[in-house]
Parts: sequence; structure tokens; C-alpha cells
Amino acid sequence: MKNVILAIESSCDETSASICIDGKVMNNVIATQEIHSKYGGVVPELASRAHQQAIAAVVKEAMASAEVEMSELSAIAFTQGPGLLGALLVGGAFAKSMALALGIPLIGVHHMKAHIIAHFIEDPKPKFPFLCLTVSGGHTQIVKVNDHLDMSVLGQTTDDAVGEAFDKCAKLMGLPYPGGPLIDKLASAGDKNKYHFNETSMPELDYSFSGIKTGFMNFLNKEKMKNANFVEENKNDLCASIQRHLIDMLIEKLELAARREKINQIAIAGGVSANSGLRLRLEELAAEKKWDVYIPAFQYCTDNAGMIGISAYYQWMAGDLVDLSAVPMPRMQF
Ligand code: KG4
Ligand code: ZN
Repeated sequence: MKNVILAIESSCDETSASICIDGKVMNNVIATQEIHSKYGGVVPELASRAHQQAIAAVVKEAMASAEVEMSELSAIAFTQGPGLLGALLVGGAFAKSMALALGIPLIGVHHMKAHIIAHFIEDPKPKFPFLCLTVSGGHTQIVKVNDHLDMSVLGQTTDDAVGEAFDKCAKLMGLPYPGGPLIDKLASAGDKNKYHFNETSMPELDYSFSGIKTGFMNFLNKEKMKNANFVEENKNDLCASIQRHLIDMLIEKLELAARREKINQIAIAGGVSANSGLRLRLEELAAEKKWDVYIPAFQYCTDNAGMIGISAYYQWMAGDLVDLSAVPMPRMQF
């Protein structure tokens, strides 16, 4: 009998559903919430409401495009955390209602672990053990992955996430939310070595991104005193320079971790892994350091239910299920 999992992701501002059959992700339907761009960041209450409006249609589309009937489902998987409480509640309640109505098991998935396990959706797949630099709007971690269900955090940010730093620096330049992809785009036409900003460096494998944000803000304020149009006139160079700084910070610790752990299987995951500068840098390092570098397809970098489906499949195989009393965990432990 086939194992058919319906997976639901609703931790932040993407409502997504996917069907995973015997460990193969069949589709990945994503409804992105546009409403937040005019507020310069995700507004939790609006995110919950938008999830409620989209979730039934998104699930229906995933089921229809995979030609799966309700009666064929083996389990329902959902993002249990970490994420926004109200947003997690929508996906969780929807998953629980379906599981209860159909009398099938529930699988609660850890969002950040799922970003990593997204590497097992398509070939080439990393070999264990590998290191994964997980970079999103809420997290920045270096994770050692021993197996699909066995991983530990070697280092992480002590304050802001790198995605947040991208978005806040973009906001300081007047770019709309989410600014990360826009910085990426404008950076391609800029000089990455033009400007330098003060940053804070952390010991060992940890990160701090609040210092560079302040450094960038102070730099802009100083320059704007001299020329009110400074940002407008130098946007591409500013984007290229801040992107280079953030990538340098990420890579320095990743190189240290690879050296220490003697691991040359290197993966990246999470929304910021869509960044073209970071991707290019990793490809250069792959050649230079003889690393095998794994970068997920674009659609599996940012939030998506495909990664929830593939994680749920491995959890299912290990009997790692939850029951109807499962609650959303905004700060779910790794
Ligand atoms: O993983 P994700 O979709 O959601 C979270 O779980 O946070 O990551 C979203 C983050 C945002 O901060 C967004 O600006 C950033 O990923 N991002 C990028 C790019 N695409 C998305 N940052 C830099 N360059 C990109 N191309
Ligand atoms: Zn994410």
C-alpha cells in the first residue's frame, strides 16, 4: 500500500500544501501573502487571516494536481513550529480537523529541520554527515546532520537572523518588504567592494547580525547629512556592499565549522539560500576547498510544504507521530 502524505506549511507568510507519495514530493502549491509588503514586515494578525483565506483552496489544489482523493491519504503533516503562533494555529487546526475526520495519523514537523531535509526532495542528495548553513528570516544556524532525524546545532545567531538583516538594511534604503531578494537583484549591478560598514564578530561558530545593521544605518545617516540623495544615487553599490558583508560573515563561520568537523559535504537551506551572491560564493569555495556543495532548487529554498512532506515521510517511517492534543510551538526546540 502506498504512503500518501498531505503536508501543510503555515509558519509565516506563505500558505503551502504538498502531496508526498512514498517519499516523492509530487507538487508544491504556494500562496504568497502580498499584504505585508506595504507594512515593511510580516504583520502576524494579517498573516493568520490570510492563511485562513487561502488554506482550503491551496490544499484542494495540491490534492487535485496530484490526483489524490481524501480516502487515499495515509497521514496529514503540518508545521508545528517554530513560527508565528496565530499562523501556526491555522495550519495546525486545519491538519487536525482533516486527520480527525478521516481517522488518520498526524505528523508534527519542525520548520527549520524541514528546510534542511528539503535536500532529499531532488538529486543530488548530500551524504551523511553533512553541514548545513540554515539561513532564513528568523534563523541563522550551522547544523551538523548525521541522519534525516538526527541533527545538532553547532553555532547560531545570538540576536537577529541574516534574512532579517537583509530585510532591515533594505528598509533603510527605502525598499519594500521582503527586501532580501531586491538587494540581491540590485547588487548584481553594483560594486561589492565600494563601501565598508562596522560589524560585530562573535566567538566560535556563533553569529551576530545586529551590529552590522547598526553599522549600515550609521553609515547611511552620515552620508545622507552630506548628500540627501546619497541612497538613491548609490543604491546598487550599497546593495552589493551590504550583501558582500553579510555573505562574508556567513562564510567565515561555515569554513571554520568545515575545518573543525573535517566535513566537506556542505549544504545551504532557508530563504536566504536563494541569494545569488551566496550561491556563487559557495560554488567558488566548492572548487577551491574540494567541498561538495548542495543548493536546493529555488522553490524549496523559501517556505514551502514540499519540505514538510519529505520530512514527514522520514518521521512516518520512524513512527514519529503526534496526536490531536499537539499544540503549535512558536519556539519549538531543535
Ligand atoms: O525561509 P524563509 O522563506 O522564511 C523564514 O522561515 O523566515 O526566509 C525568508 C527570508 C527573508 O528574510 C527574505 O528576505 C530572505 O529569506 N530572502 C533572500 C532572498 N530570497 C529570500 N535574502 C537574500 N537574497 C535573496 N535572493
Ligand atoms: Zn523558513
